[in-house]
Amino acid sequence: MDLRLLFFAVLFANLMTAQEPSPSQYIGSNVCKACHPNVWLSFYKNPHYKSIARGTSAPADTGCESCHGPGKAHVEARGGKGTIFAFSEKPQGEILDNCLRCHASEISRSNIRRSAHTLEDVVCSSCHSIHRSPTPRSLLKSDQASLCYTCHPAVRAQFSMPSKHRVNEGFMNCTDCHNPHGAPAPTWNMGVRPRMVDRGTATEEPCMKCHSDKRGPFVFEHPAVRVEGCETCHVPHGSMNARLLKRPVVFTVCLECHNGAGEFGRQGDGITLQSASHNMTDPRFRNCTSCHVRIHGSNADPRFLR
Ligand code: HEC
Ligand code: HEC
Ligand code: HEC
Ligand code: HEC
Ligand code: HEC
Ligand code: HEC
Ligand code: HEC
Ligand code: HEC
Ligand code: HEC
Ligand code: HEC
Repeated sequence: MDLRLLFFAVLFANLMTAQEPSPSQYIGSNVCKACHPNVWLSFYKNPHYKSIARGTSAPADTGCESCHGPGKAHVEARGGKGTIFAFSEKPQGEILDNCLRCHASEISRSNIRRSAHTLEDVVCSSCHSIHRSPTPRSLLKSDQASLCYTCHPAVRAQFSMPSKHRVNEGFMNCTDCHNPHGAPAPTWNMGVRPRMVDRGTATEEPCMKCHSDKRGPFVFEHPAVRVEGCETCHVPHGSMNARLLKRPVVFTVCLECHNGAGEFGRQGDGITLQSASHNMTDPRFRNCTSCHVRIHGSNADPRFLR
C-alpha cells in the first residue's frame, strides 16, 4: 500500500475510535465572555487562568474548557446545561474524576480515593469553589475552620474547651494535623488511626511538627509515648482537663497501665508496677509528674525522674 494512504487510513481510524473530544469541538474561552461575563471577568485571578497542567496549551488543558469540556455545541445551542459539563448536574464521582484528571499526581492527594470523604461522597466541589471563593488561598468555599464545622459541628465545641489548641482563634488550622484529601495513617499505628490524621516527617505523628522536643529519640523511651502515641494520654482537639489530658488527675492516666491488674503485686503484662514506696493514700504520690518530670522520655534516667 502507498505509505501516504496508510498514514491517512491510520489517522482516520484513530479519529473514529478516539475517546477524547476532537480539537474541533473546542471553541476557546473568549466566546464565553458574552453570556457569562461575571465568571469570565474575575477569572484572570484564578490559578486555572493559564493551566499548564500537562505542559501543553491544548484547548483541553486551558481556560474554561479544561473543566467544562468542549464548548462549541453549547455555544451553537445558545446555552443549556445539557450541552456542556455542568457541575450542578453531575454525580459526585464524575466531579472527582474531572478534577483528578490534572490533580491526581500531587502527593497531598495520593490517597484521596480511599479517604473517608470520598467514600462518603464528599468531593472537591464540597470544599472548593472555583468561581466564588472568598479565600484566595486554595480556593476554599469559606475560611477553613468554618468550612469543616459545617459538617463537623461537634468538633467546634471540642475546640472551645478550657484546654485546647487555638484553632477557633485562627492560630492553627485543621490541616496542621489532618489531610482532608486522605492521609496514609502512620505505619506503626494504622489499625487504630484511620482518621485522615496527617503525618509529620517520615511516619511520625503530626504533633512533632510543632512539639519537636517530644520527638526524641531518647536514651530511655516511655513506650506509652513512643509506641502507643500521643492520644493515649491527650485529647488532640480540646479537653476539660489541664494539658489536654484525657483524665482530670494525672495519676488516673498513669494507673490505666501501671495498675497491677491481672497479676496483682507482680510485673503484669510487661508493664512495671509502682513499688511499695508509692503510697497511694499519701497525696504526695498522686501527682506522678511532679517526680517523673520527663514523662515523654529522658536522656538521663530510666524512670524519667530527670
Ligand atoms: C478548574 C475548573 C474550572 C474552570 C477552569 C472553569 N470552571 Fe466554571 N465551574 C467549575 C465548577 C466546579 C463549577 C460549579 C460551581 C462551583 O463549585 O463553583 C463551575 C460553575 C460554572 C458556571 C455555573 C454558574 C456558577 O457561577 O456557578 C458557569 C456559567 C461557569 N462555571 C462558567 C465558566 C467559564 C465561563 C469559565 C472560564 C472563564 C469557567 N467556568 C472555568 C469549574 C471550572
Ligand atoms: C450564547 C450565550 C452563551 C455562550 C456563548 C456560552 N454560554 Fe454557557 N450557558 C448559557 C446559558 C443560557 C446557560 C443555561 C443556564 C441555565 O439553564 O440556567 C448556560 C449554562 C452554562 C453552564 C452550566 C451552568 C450550571 O448551572 O451548571 C456552564 C458550565 C456554561 N454555560 C459554561 C460555558 C462556557 C465554558 C462557555 C464558553 C465555552 C459558555 N458557557 C458559553 C449561555 C451561553
Ligand atoms: C486542566 C487541568 C486542571 C483541571 C481539570 C483542574 N485543575 Fe486545579 N489547577 C490546575 C493547575 C495547573 C493549577 C495551578 C497549580 C500551581 O499553581 O501550582 C491548579 C490549581 C488548583 C488549586 C490550588 C489553588 C491554590 O491557591 O494553590 C485548587 C484548589 C484547584 N486547582 C482545584 C481544582 C478543582 C476543585 C478542580 C475540579 C473542579 C480542578 N482544580 C481542575 C490544573 C487543573
Ligand atoms: C473535605 C474538604 C476538601 C475536599 C473534599 C477536597 N479538598 Fe482540596 N483542600 C482542602 C483544604 C482545607 C485545603 C487547604 C490546605 C492547606 O491550606 O494546607 C485544600 C487544598 C487543595 C489544593 C492546594 C494545596 C495542596 O494541598 O496541594 C489543591 C490543588 C486541592 N485542594 C485540590 C483538590 C481536589 C482536586 C479535590 C478533589 C479531587 C479536593 N481538593 C478535595 C479541602 C478539601
Ligand atoms: C460536606 C461535608 C464535609 C465537609 C465540608 C468536611 N467533612 Fe470531614 N467528613 C464528612 C463525612 C460525611 C465524613 C465521614 C463520616 C464521618 O466519619 O463523620 C467525614 C470524615 C472526616 C474525618 C474522619 C473521621 C473518621 O471517623 O475517620 C476527618 C478527620 C474529617 N472529616 C476532617 C475534616 C476536615 C479537616 C474538614 C475541613 C477541611 C472536613 N472534614 C470537611 C463530611 C465533611
Ligand atoms: C492538634 C492536631 C489536630 C487539629 C488541629 C485538629 N485535629 Fe482532628 N483529630 C486529630 C487527631 C490526632 C485525631 C484522631 C483522634 C483519635 O483517633 O483518637 C482527630 C480526629 C478527628 C475527627 C474524627 C474523630 C471525631 O472526633 O469525630 C474529626 C471529624 C476531626 N478530627 C476533625 C477536625 C476538624 C474539623 C479540625 C479543625 C476545626 C481538626 N480536626 C483539627 C488531631 C487534630
Ligand atoms: C501547628 C503546631 C502544633 C501542632 C501540629 C500540635 N500542637 Fe500541641 N500545641 C501547640 C501550641 C502553640 C500550644 C500552646 C497552647 C496554646 O495554643 O495556647 C500547644 C499545646 C499543647 C499541649 C499543652 C496544652 C496546655 O494546656 O499546656 C498539649 C498536651 C499538646 N499541645 C499536644 C499536642 C498533640 C498530642 C498534638 C498532635 C495530635 C499536637 N499537640 C499538635 C502547637 C501545636
Ligand atoms: C503516658 C502519657 C502521655 C503520653 C503518651 C504523652 N503525654 Fe504529653 N503529657 C503527659 C502528662 C501527664 C503531661 C502533664 C505534665 C505536667 O503537668 O507536669 C503532659 C504534658 C504535655 C505537654 C505540655 C507540657 C510540656 O511538657 O510541654 C505537651 C506539649 C505534651 N504533653 C505533648 C505530648 C506529645 C506531642 C505527645 C506524643 C509524642 C505526648 N505528649 C504524649 C502525658 C503524656
Ligand atoms: C499506655 C500505657 C501506659 C501509660 C498510660 C503510662 N505508662 Fe509508664 N510505662 C508503660 C510501659 C509499657 C513501660 C515500660 C515498662 C518496662 O519497660 O518494663 C512504662 C514505663 C514507665 C516507667 C519506667 C519504669 C522502669 O522500670 O524503668 C515509669 C517511671 C513510668 N512508666 C511512669 C508513668 C507515669 C508517671 C505515667 C502517667 C503520666 C505513665 N507511666 C503512663 C506504659 C504506660
Ligand atoms: C515523690 C516522688 C514520686 C512520685 C510522686 C511518684 N513517683 Fe514513681 N518513682 C519515684 C522514684 C524515686 C522511683 C524509683 C525508686 C523506687 O522504686 O521507689 C519511682 C519509680 C517508679 C516506677 C518504676 C518501678 C519501680 O518501683 O522502680 C514506676 C512504674 C512509677 N514510679 C510510677 C509512678 C506513678 C504511676 C506515679 C503516680 C501515681 C508515681 N510513680 C509517682 C518517685 C515518685
